[in-house]
This record gives sequence, C-alpha cells and structure tokens, in this order.
Amino acid sequence: MLYLCGFHEIFFVIKLNDGGCFLEKILTFLVLRFKNMIFDTHAHYDDEQFDIDREELLAAMKDGGIGNIVDVGASMASSERALELAHKYDFIYAAVGVHPSEVEEMDDSSIERLRELSKDEKCVAIGEIGLDYHWPDPSPELQKIWFKRQIQLARETGLPIIIHSRDAAQDTLEIMKSEHVEDIGGVVHCFSYSAEVAAECVKMGFYIGIGGVLTFKNARKMVEVAEKTPIEKIILETDCPYLAPEPYRGKRNNSLYLPNVVRKMAEVKNMSEEDVIRITEENARKMYGISR
Ligand code: NI
Repeated sequence: MLYLCGFHEIFFVIKLNDGGCFLEKILTFLVLRFKNMIFDTHAHYDDEQFDIDREELLAAMKDGGIGNIVDVGASMASSERALELAHKYDFIYAAVGVHPSEVEEMDDSSIERLRELSKDEKCVAIGEIGLDYHWPDPSPELQKIWFKRQIQLARETGLPIIIHSRDAAQDTLEIMKSEHVEDIGGVVHCFSYSAEVAAECVKMGFYIGIGGVLTFKNARKMVEVAEKTPIEKIILETDCPYLAPEPYRGKRNNSLYLPNVVRKMAEVKNMSEEDVIRITEENARKMYGISR
C-alpha cells in the first residue's frame, strides 16, 4: 500500500508491507486528518443523473483528492434527499432550501419543514436560494418573497446562506443589503457577474463560489473576478451535474473534475495548486462551520 501525503511543501512516501493493517488504518486516519483536500462546496448528487453510478462515484472521491462535499437542496424534495445522502456518507454535508425557479411550490408549511430539516446536525446552510430572471417564471415578485423568507429562516437558525443569482444582480444586491446578510454570511455560488459586483458581495462578508466556468475559453469575465477577488474569499464548487470544466465541458460534471478548476485558479492567482486547495478548503470550513 502506497501513501502519498502532502504536508504543504513536504511530501512523504510511506510504503507498508501487507501485514501492516493496523498501522495502515492509523496512517489513513492521519492522511485524511492533515492532508489538504479539495472541498466541493456545492454539488447535487441527489440529482437523478447520478442514479446509475452514484455509489461508485462517491466511493472514488477520497482517492481523487476530494475531501468534503456539500450537497445542496434546490427543491423541497431534493432538500430531503440531500440530508439522506449526508447521513449515508460521513464526508457529505447538506444544505436545505428552495431554488428561485422552484418557489411556486412553497407555502408556510414548506418554511416549517425547512426549519425542521435545518436542525439536523449534518445541515450546514440554507440554500440554494435567490433570484433567477433568466426565465420569465416564477415572477420576480414571487421569487423575492421566498428569497427573503428563506434569508429570515437562515437568520433564525444561525446558518449561512447559499445564494443563486442569475441575470438579477441589482435586485440580489438590494435584498442582500436590506436583509442585512452581513450578519448571516454565506456564498454567492456559481458567480456570474462582474468583479465590481463580487467586491460588493465580499464587502458584505460573502464568499464567491467558482467552478467549471473559470476554465471555459470565453471566461474572461470570470478570470477577472478570480484575479481581483482575494483567495481568502474564494471557495470551489462543481454545481454538478452541471457546468463541467474543460476538457469535459458539456458532459455530466462531478467533483473528480475539480483539479482542472484548481489548476486554472493556480495559474490565474499565480500560486501553487496546493495553496489553492489548502486556502479554499479552509475558507469552506470556516463558512460552513465544519471542523476537520
Ligand atoms: Ni446548484
């Protein structure tokens, strides 16, 4: 059995003979305890696109350098499924919330149910919530109502929020300000706006979630956001099964493709891949309140 573990710049190679089972377990524990691994802060493994191979895929994460994953709810049903996954796998955590495109299903009883789900020890955030004006429905008015209600739920539960915002920068910033989200904290995930908008979010104490889009050939705006946002305010995400990085663009995404995003981030920030992994992992732990 060969162990490769990176303690910052130092690499140890420990070769064990077959009889070293106990020692092997201790070393596995130490490697996982101290090695910096990529933290996927936003994934949807509860999605039916993973029904065919979810177990094999999740079993391959550790060897692929992926540490923790937060499975993010996007509807009432997927919030429940996210928690089920979090209970099945120790390295998976859950966020519960309803995506702006799904808020037509919401009423007072859904807030009540989300409140119950949020009390689970593996629930680390309220999300994904926000505004999406890409499609005409649901109406912006309805989206705003449920965005605010779910922010209020986060305030009440003490959990950070995961914001989804598309084609709705101004209204999102307005609600973030009027709801004083700086007291709550969280991330604007799959960030798609300018570096100036990112700076405003960072000023409110928010992290910027960056994933596969950074590697796209036409990603100049995204590269600028990554350049100008301090690495201490960036977290990595897949948003899988969507938004696979190059060279997998257009295919089903999964966390094992994140090293491609790390490589691009290291290039853009002119820093080592190890530092990108270590700092973004620390940021994610801090935001979600997850200790090692
Ligand atoms: Ni998502």
